[in-house]
Amino acid sequence: MLLRCWLALLVALIPAALSTNPGVKVKLTEKGIEYGKLLGMAALQTRLKSIKVPDISGSQSVSPIGKVQYSLTNMQITNIGLPKSEVDLVPGSAVKLSIGDAYISLNGHWRVKYLRFIKDSGSFDLNVNGLAITTGIAIKSDETGRPAVSSVNCAATVGSAKIKFHGGASWLYNLFEKFVDKALRNALQKQICPLVADAVSDLNPHLKTLNVLAKVDQYAEIEYSMVSSPIISNSSIDLSLKGEFYNIGRHQEPPFSPKDFSLPPQINNMLYIGMSVFTANSAAFVYNNAGALSLYITDDMIPKGSPFRLNTRTFGVFIPQIAQKFPGLMMKLLVKTVKNPIITFEPNNVTIQATATVTAYAIQPNSTLSPLFVLNLETSVSANVFVSGMRLAGSVTLNNMNLTLGTSYVGQFQVSSLDNMLQMLLKVVVIPKLNAQLGKGYPLPTIGKMKLVNAQLQVLKDYMLIGTDVQFTG
Ligand SMILES: *[C@@H]1O[C@H](CO)[C@@H](O)[C@H](O)[C@H]1NC(C)=O
Ligand SMILES: *[C@@H]1O[C@H](CO)[C@@H](O)[C@H](O)[C@H]1NC(C)=O
Ligand SMILES: *[C@@H]1O[C@H](CO)[C@@H](O)[C@H](O)[C@H]1NC(C)=O
Ligand SMILES: *[C@@H]1O[C@H](CO)[C@@H](O)[C@H](O)[C@H]1NC(C)=O
Repeated sequence: MLLRCWLALLVALIPAALSTNPGVKVKLTEKGIEYGKLLGMAALQTRLKSIKVPDISGSQSVSPIGKVQYSLTNMQITNIGLPKSEVDLVPGSAVKLSIGDAYISLNGHWRVKYLRFIKDSGSFDLNVNGLAITTGIAIKSDETGRPAVSSVNCAATVGSAKIKFHGGASWLYNLFEKFVDKALRNALQKQICPLVADAVSDLNPHLKTLNVLAKVDQYAEIEYSMVSSPIISNSSIDLSLKGEFYNIGRHQEPPFSPKDFSLPPQINNMLYIGMSVFTANSAAFVYNNAGALSLYITDDMIPKGSPFRLNTRTFGVFIPQIAQKFPGLMMKLLVKTVKNPIITFEPNNVTIQATATVTAYAIQPNSTLSPLFVLNLETSVSANVFVSGMRLAGSVTLNNMNLTLGTSYVGQFQVSSLDNMLQMLLKVVVIPKLNAQLGKGYPLPTIGKMKLVNAQLQVLKDYMLIGTDVQFTG
């Protein structure tokens, strides 16, 4: 019984687990990782400067004097250099950071006491060379679907240390060099990896700024949470993001799901973002559901110079019954999608096909709307899509349209006589309104104060590819 339930549960869970194809893919190339390293090394250097070397004290028997009590205090880092660093991708597991030939300089105070009453003190400088640090940086998806990094398998070795004493008797120097040197190296070595771990964790607050749920406008938001852990290959780090539009606060799944797609192996830019046609179609689903794809067209929206007016006189030219039954009235049209517009991406071509109705009304003097007819409108528009700041925006132009009669309340008429009028309304009223919205665009996935540099967009089969360099400011 228990087994049956368990199996049923498993079966119920499997489709959900398998249907997590991303709508958006992000590829961080070696060039991007190199840029990240540059930013990271500066942060690491600052972290390492905060090394606090604890005071060291003890006693040592030295012949022929006997017991010498010593202490080293007030140790301060004066300089730290990380001249050589390298990041390597370890496919399937982590990013490996190797730092070599690093050096640390510090100074401090020494004090000794021996033969019961003799005291001596002075300062010292310590130069540590040949410092090597290696650490893995593991990247996971956190519980909110944002990337999170941690340091794994860190190791630090200190090469040679050179201590220089100022003040005091020279025989003391020889005494100290042996064991003080070792104590200091141990103390440093112990501190480095925890600080490296801190420096790596310092990245997480930045990664937490990934806009996993970005507001688009009053209707929609787009979700960019990661649907699986990042994949580390030998040439890039690949993130799979949901990339799905939702009605704000109401996350209803559309009756279609993302198809798997893979980004081409490009390397020239730091970052590649692949935006699938699924993402675009989820937007169409959301706006259609929200009733946002509808527009009342009134006469004041038509350019003053146009001979076509939205009144029963103009329409009476094509449909005489309208002029007869509703003389001298202004008219109003309601254009409204009746199903989800369908967006297709073909190489260099974004096409949107929409099915709508156009309902014509005469406006009575008491403002009542009298329906005249309903037309079915099939349109195809081509979109030009571009990157604008951290947003993806577009504009459309009409390819073609096809009008058929839905319902007439004014008797028979020739629908094709309205073709030119409808085409004009699409071109001068509907499409400009749509373009004003599309021009505002929607947010791309972003982290912190990220700026795209030289972003290029290419439309390919079933997805768009943005190749870009990035810059972080502040
Ligand atoms: C990287 O991985 C790909 C596919 O897994 C492989 O074909 C290629 O030879 C690898 N390149 C290097 C430099 O290891
Ligand atoms: C894109 O494809 C559609 C449908 O095949 C076609 O009507 C349109 O002219 C094409 N647009 C461009 C810019 O090539
Ligand atoms: C508005 O005027 C029309 C036509 O004269 C009439 O049929 C309709 O009943 C009127 N409606 C109201 C609410 O007065
Ligand atoms: C317009 O739509 C009708 C009905 O769907 C179809 O028969 C006709 O071929 C279409 N015309 C064009 C030009 O696409």
